[in-house]
Amino acid sequence: LAGASLAKERKELKQQQTEAEMDNLPKDLNRPWEDPMPAPGERNFAQDLRGVAAEAAGRGRGDVPEWRSAVQGKAVTYGKLTDLSIQEQRRSLPVFKLRDLFIEAVHKHQFLVAVGDTGSGKTTQLTQYLYEEGFARRGRIGCTQPRRVAATSVAKRVAEEVGCRLGAEVGYTIRYEDCTSPETRIKYCTDGMLIREILMDANLGRYSVIMLDEAHERSLNTDVLFGLLKETCRKRADLKVIVTSATLDAEKFSKYFNNCPIFTIPGRTFPVEVLFSREPETDYLDAAMMTVMQIHMTEPPGDVLLFLTGQEEIDTACEILYERMKALGSMVPELIILPVYSSLPSEMQSRIFEPTPVGARKVVISTNIAETSVTIDGIYYVVDPGFVKQNTYDAKSGLDQLAVTPCSQAQAKQRTGRAGRTGPGKCYRLYTEAAFRNEMLPNSVPEIQRMNLSSMVLQLKAMGINDLIGFDFMDPPSVQTLVASLELLHSLGALDSEGLLTRIGRKMAEFPMSPELSKALLASVEYGCSEEVLTIAAMLSVDGTVFYRPKEKQAAADAKKAKFHQPEGDHLTLLTVYNAWKAARFSNTWCFDNFLQYRRLRSASDIRKQMVGIMDRYKQDIVSCGERNFDPVRRALCAGFFRHTAKRDPQEGYKTLVEGTPVYIHPSSALFNKNPEWVIYHGLVMTTKEYMREVTVVEARWLVEVAPTFFQVADATRISRRKRNERLEPLLSKFEKPNDWRISRVRKPRRP
Ligand code: CDP
Ligand code: MG
Repeated sequence: LAGASLAKERKELKQQQTEAEMDNLPKDLNRPWEDPMPAPGERNFAQDLRGVAAEAAGRGRGDVPEWRSAVQGKAVTYGKLTDLSIQEQRRSLPVFKLRDLFIEAVHKHQFLVAVGDTGSGKTTQLTQYLYEEGFARRGRIGCTQPRRVAATSVAKRVAEEVGCRLGAEVGYTIRYEDCTSPETRIKYCTDGMLIREILMDANLGRYSVIMLDEAHERSLNTDVLFGLLKETCRKRADLKVIVTSATLDAEKFSKYFNNCPIFTIPGRTFPVEVLFSREPETDYLDAAMMTVMQIHMTEPPGDVLLFLTGQEEIDTACEILYERMKALGSMVPELIILPVYSSLPSEMQSRIFEPTPVGARKVVISTNIAETSVTIDGIYYVVDPGFVKQNTYDAKSGLDQLAVTPCSQAQAKQRTGRAGRTGPGKCYRLYTEAAFRNEMLPNSVPEIQRMNLSSMVLQLKAMGINDLIGFDFMDPPSVQTLVASLELLHSLGALDSEGLLTRIGRKMAEFPMSPELSKALLASVEYGCSEEVLTIAAMLSVDGTVFYRPKEKQAAADAKKAKFHQPEGDHLTLLTVYNAWKAARFSNTWCFDNFLQYRRLRSASDIRKQMVGIMDRYKQDIVSCGERNFDPVRRALCAGFFRHTAKRDPQEGYKTLVEGTPVYIHPSSALFNKNPEWVIYHGLVMTTKEYMREVTVVEARWLVEVAPTFFQVADATRISRRKRNERLEPLLSKFEKPNDWRISRVRKPRRP
């Protein structure tokens, strides 16, 4: 019963959420938490704050959530946070006792699966043990992470422990950022970067050990690395591969890696009291805010970890908490509010790990990064709304989407465990026990079974792996998804009609971006506008929007933004913004005056530099089309994004050309209310409607020009002359039966 009502409420909740999102469309919050707090010591713990707590917690809608305890009668006691030296800390980790056993196991076996609770020291210690034992003499020790933040923060920590400068003996590489040097012996990198290295050298000759960390996350790249490394190891008997996992998937990993031994690190965890909501929460964000305030006001010392789904939500939560704390003034102890998400600037990252000053409490608001990849000491309370943002891909429509979905039971358990690392803790689950049992999957679906694989397929093809169906996947992707990827790559010209890599496909694989974007970039060289398209590609690769739209100054921000708008659409608007910033000598104050986010523009300029490097390496000219006629730029964009074409619908909005899905121009677009007939878009976002983001006006005839294997002009004898140039139809795929996976809009199927 509770489950059913929860489902209903979740539906309503989603509606409310999307409406809320509509209200603040291109919302990008100020960053009040960058310097939000008074100096430590200015506030003292008040005596009895229960009244204040109820008031603070109840500020917002609804009442303070009520809790039901699943574990009865466990008294909570608190250990003192001690200040150990860095070497003492190392020796105190659970893995330390097993150091010699571990080294022995690596000497004996080529593959090893290492399991241990989060925080036991796998990521930071195992690499160092190997380094200390001389494994890095013949080559580097590489350690992959599914997430950027984890790669950089762990490298920083290990450099501290080793006592070297970051980038010297210990370094990291993430996309668009290489912090290593010839001296580097221990290298942390994202799993995507290691795949790029295999693309250059299938033998990984520069490495002696590879540790595939966080394998339980089952990220797409790590899953592919499983297969690739297994193959590399066949050729290189001296290469060692260690696969680590925080959960008990170990058997499965071991079986896959030729029944290799499992190295278990015993945990050191304290009991955690689990509390479920009595009633389903209608607004999990609101419930989470109240719960955090309630903990802060009524619970003994100990930091709080709250799991939310994404950057925007986390930013909002930080702001709400900050406002509530401000409203309470100096009556209450200090609450240090810290966001964590993958695109967090590195200067902010280090603050997460700083110990909390006495008398204050820290609340860390994180995406699922803090489930396993990042360990923060001192957490006694976990608040878990039970949601996660996930990629989903529909091979039928070719639609990629990020959607908020309930997390799995395994994830919920993992989140709970985070409260029991320093001492006995409490976990507040903002859902009912029935919802946990009935509505959550036992385990998450691996990315490889729910993501667009076109980038991956292109990279595998570039490695000479042609038989994808026969590839040794631990859990294979669906054939339909593979076929959709092959089909997309063929239409982009990256694969020939045999499904083999073309020359342009090889070049496309070099660029660390989607095949669509790299194709547009390569096409721009031909059209004489790579200078411009490079900028646009860099701007599109930045995390989040460069426009800054604070709540209290939306009108002013919109007016500034409108000055950059271009009649051709958003891509050229982005170009205009970048060039104006460049003309202002990349100034920070100029950004401030124009409601632009300096940091993101700077990141665009860094990305651009990297792309220029790749262009140079492949002898691609960087040429400008001048300042008057931007048609070549739009044609180049068509060459990559022709699949993302939409045509104005006579009734309302637009319809995508491939699927006929109703879509709309996003209100933040330069083309909002302009309604040109043909447009291409960069991506879709689903809020109250399916919106196109980054939209540009195109001409129908360009589409046929750039993608002759994909579009055809409709039968001319049956339509008027005027319409002839505008009637486009997608062709059928050569890779599969048509009816299966595409609504056929073609009257006369013709095979390319
Ligand atoms: O990989 P695993 O989850 O087993 O543990 P780890 O990441 O190696 O972390 C071991 C310990 O190092 C944690 O308990 C933290 O105390 C510490 N650590 C840290 O202080 N700062 C970091 N950036 C990472 C780890
Ligand atoms: Mg780890």
